[in-house]
This record gives sequence, C-alpha cells and structure tokens, in this order.
Amino acid sequence: MVVVFLAVSSTLCAEPIEASEGLRIMADRNTGNCVSCHEIPAWRDSTQSANRLTLQGNFGPSLQGVGARYSKEQLRQWIVDARVIHPNTLMPPYGTTERLHLPARSQNLLTQKQIDAVVDTLTTFTQVPVASKDNSTTQALTASGLAQLQSANAMNPIGLWIDEGKRKWEKDCNSCHALEKVIKAVPNFPKLAASQKLINLEDQISACRQRVDANATTNATTTAIASAASQSFSNDDAPTLELSTLLNDAARQLAINIAPPTNPLHAIIWKKNLADGERLFKTRLGHMNLSCQQCHDGKVGSSMRAQKITAGHPTGFPAYRISWQGLGSIERRIRACYSGVQAQVPAPQDIRLRQLELYLKTRAQGLQLEGPSIRQ
Ligand code: HEC
Ligand code: HEC
Ligand code: HEC
Repeated sequence: MVVVFLAVSSTLCAEPIEASEGLRIMADRNTGNCVSCHEIPAWRDSTQSANRLTLQGNFGPSLQGVGARYSKEQLRQWIVDARVIHPNTLMPPYGTTERLHLPARSQNLLTQKQIDAVVDTLTTFTQVPVASKDNSTTQALTASGLAQLQSANAMNPIGLWIDEGKRKWEKDCNSCHALEKVIKAVPNFPKLAASQKLINLEDQISACRQRVDANATTNATTTAIASAASQSFSNDDAPTLELSTLLNDAARQLAINIAPPTNPLHAIIWKKNLADGERLFKTRLGHMNLSCQQCHDGKVGSSMRAQKITAGHPTGFPAYRISWQGLGSIERRIRACYSGVQAQVPAPQDIRLRQLELYLKTRAQGLQLEGPSIRQ
C-alpha cells in the first residue's frame, strides 16, 4: 500500500517537475510575478492549498488556453520580448533589457533557464476556458480584502496626525500666517517658488520649518527655500507630514486650481516643467516597460493582484497605506510606482517627481481634494 502510494506519487511528480517549477516562477513576486497581471487557474488548482489564496490580477488576459492558441516558439516570443509581436504591447519583456528606459538592474527579469521552465508550463495550458466558473474564491478574497481595509480604517491614525499638526502649527507657524489663508493656497501646489524652482506643498512646509529652525530674523525667502529643498527636511519627515495632513484635511473639497505664474518669465519656466511632466507621464519605464499613462488612463478598473488601478488622481494625500503601515506623501506614492515597474527610482526631491505632480494636478484640475485618505 505504502509502496504503491510512493510509486504513484513519484511518477506523478517525475513528469511535471519542470512544469511546477514554471508555475512557481509565474506566481513568485520576485521572479515572474505573472499572476499580478494574469489569471493562472493552474496555480489555483495546484497541490498547495495556499496557492488558492494567491490574488491574481486581470490587467492582461487569462493564460488559460494559451497552450492551445500558440506554438512553443510563439509562447517563447511572448515572454522574451512581445514587442516583436505587437509594438504597443503591455506585456513586459522578460528576456531582454534592450530599448528599456531606466531599468532598475542590468540583468533580464528572467534567466534563460527560467524562461524555458515558464514556456514548458505554458504549453500545458491547453484547456480552453469555460464561460461559467465558480467565483466563490474571488468573492471570498474580495470580501476579506475589504474587511482588512475597513478594520484598518477603524483604527486609522489620521486623526492623530491632524492633532499633532495642529499643535505644531500653533507652536511654529501661527506667528507669520493666518491658517485660513494658507489653507486656500493648498489647491495651488505645486508652484514656482521665488527661486524659480518648482515646489510642492511639503517643500514649502519644509522651507518654512527651516525658517523656524534658523529662527529667521530677516525674511531671506529665496535662500531659505533653496537650502531647505536640498537639506535636512524630507517630504516624508513626520513633522512635515503632520502639517501637510492638517492643511490637506482643512482644504478638503476645495477644487484643484493650478495656474501659470503671472510673471511672464516665470510662466515660461513653469510651462517647460509642465511639458516635461506630461512627457514623463507618457514615457515607458523600467523592466515592465509601462508608462504612467498606460496604467492610469488605459487600465483604470483592472487589477494587479489585490490593487485596483485608479485614474491616479492626486486628490487624497497624504495617504495612509496598509503596506506602508503609515502615512506617505504624494512623492512617496510616485516613487512607489517607479519601483512597481522596476525602474530606477528618482531620489527624493528629484525635479521629475515635481514635474509629474504638476502634470497630475493639471490633469485633475477642478477635482475636489479629498483630504488625507486610506489606501490599500
Ligand atoms: C504588467 C502586467 C503583465 C505581466 C507582469 C505579465 N503580463 Fe503577460 N500580458 C500582459 C498583457 C496586458 C497582455 C495582453 C497582450 C498585449 O498587451 O500585447 C499579455 C499577454 C500575454 C500572453 C499572450 C496571451 C494571449 O492570449 O494572447 C502571454 C502568453 C503572456 N502574457 C504570458 C505572461 C507570462 C508567462 C508572464 C510572467 C512571466 C506575464 N505574461 C507577465 C501583461 C502582463
Ligand atoms: C518667519 C515667518 C514664517 C513662519 C514662522 C512660517 N512661514 Fe510659511 N511662509 C512664510 C513666507 C514669507 C511665505 C511666502 C513664500 C516663501 O517665501 O516661502 C510662506 C509661505 C507658506 C505657505 C504657502 C502659502 C501660499 O500662499 O502660497 C505655506 C503652506 C506655509 N508657508 C506653511 C508654513 C508652515 C506649515 C509653517 C510652520 C512650520 C510656516 N509656514 C511658518 C513665512 C513664514
Ligand atoms: C503598472 C501599472 C502602473 C504604472 C505604470 C504606474 N502606476 Fe501609479 N499606481 C498603480 C497602482 C496599482 C496604484 C495603486 C492603486 C491606485 O490607487 O491606483 C497606483 C497609484 C498611484 C497614485 C495614487 C492614486 C490614488 O488614488 O491615491 C498615483 C498618484 C500614481 N499611481 C501615479 C503614478 C505615476 C506618476 C506613474 C508614472 C511614473 C505611475 N503611477 C505609474 C499602478 C501603476
């Protein structure tokens, strides 16, 4: 009995070894991560029950049946570099780094051997999809995902950040500013500072914190901003985030209102920044070779694992994200998207981050600010 069982299971294992290696690569976040964009029913049906819980995205088509639709060589081409098949493909090239902009590493996403294993597995996906399928797993996952979000919401710490922001405002900022006036300025950021540098709200807060620290006796505004932007304070320092949370909360429901500076010379610089932001938004990036636009215009509503892609409007910042276990600025969010497409991530305060923010805000012109938000 035992002998038979072992004999049977070893023949079962012996044949699909390569295949299960391929499946593992397709599910693993650190290698193929194909399930973040594709439904792979074979992974759900494979032996380990934990596999059933892997969240699978629908950014791309289900991979069920691809083994029937494509030859082995075609499948390999899809994985190595699908741009050969469709120049405008959204499928990342796994076997080359050619013609990629700012890939995070110099190696390919997958080695030759890993690609062989994946292709072998794909050739076994010959079963053509059936229309009506049991959806209970997806529903259970969605429900538990929501429950998780809500429980985080229940103990959401945004209120604490606002209280701390208020305390700091009264201590450090009140002496120079009327709060109501500063709140009205929130929907106008990013803007060109007197230094002609594009700054966002957090940069301005940092510059003013610098003033407070320097115990400024004169109002040497330009130098304060220029040095604050490059020194000690980051957009994601707790005091800057607390003050930003206070101001964004109070500015809730004001409409985003971006306008070029009135000074004609400044207006030229501002327009150049905006044009650069738009160009960056439309440039494919990283190993995944996807632009901001391809996700945030082209794939709104589809999901990558548990994350549903939204229009990417910059209305709900600072954001409390479960995966960050804390609040983050819009700068942190944009940097996270660079990292998500496996691109070299710009350093904090890189001008590209501000240009992108300017373009995002212009694109969202007139939308109401939501105040600090909770995100997955
Ligand atoms: C960023 C999301 C993304 C990731 C990650 C991704 N794909 Fe794709 N893939 C797509 C999209 C979108 C398509 C649809 C075709 C297109 O855009 O050209 C596609 C198409 C395909 C196709 C052709 C399907 C068909 O029915 O024509 C195959 C095969 C494929 N992908 C396999 C894989 C494998 C294997 C992996 C992991 C090694 C993977 N994909 C990772 C987005 C992705
Ligand atoms: C010593 C006076 C002074 C203090 C203290 C000060 N600020 Fe400012 N603040 C300014 C000046 C001057 C400006 C105009 C822009 C510039 O030169 O930086 C400004 C502009 C701003 C703006 C933009 C307002 C607009 O209309 O565009 C914000 C937001 C702001 N400060 C926040 C703060 C915060 C938060 C604090 C407390 C950490 C603070 N400020 C403390 C002097 C001050
Ligand atoms: C591969 C797809 C993809 C690409 C490319 C991408 N993002 Fe995202 N982005 C996401 C996902 C997923 C989220 C989290 C869900 C959401 O809020 O849309 C997100 C969130 C955001 C948010 C927060 C939206 C909110 O409602 O809070 C902003 C802003 C953003 N992205 C900007 C960018 C910018 C700028 C780029 C280009 C540098 C970019 N993204 C590239 C997938 C992408």
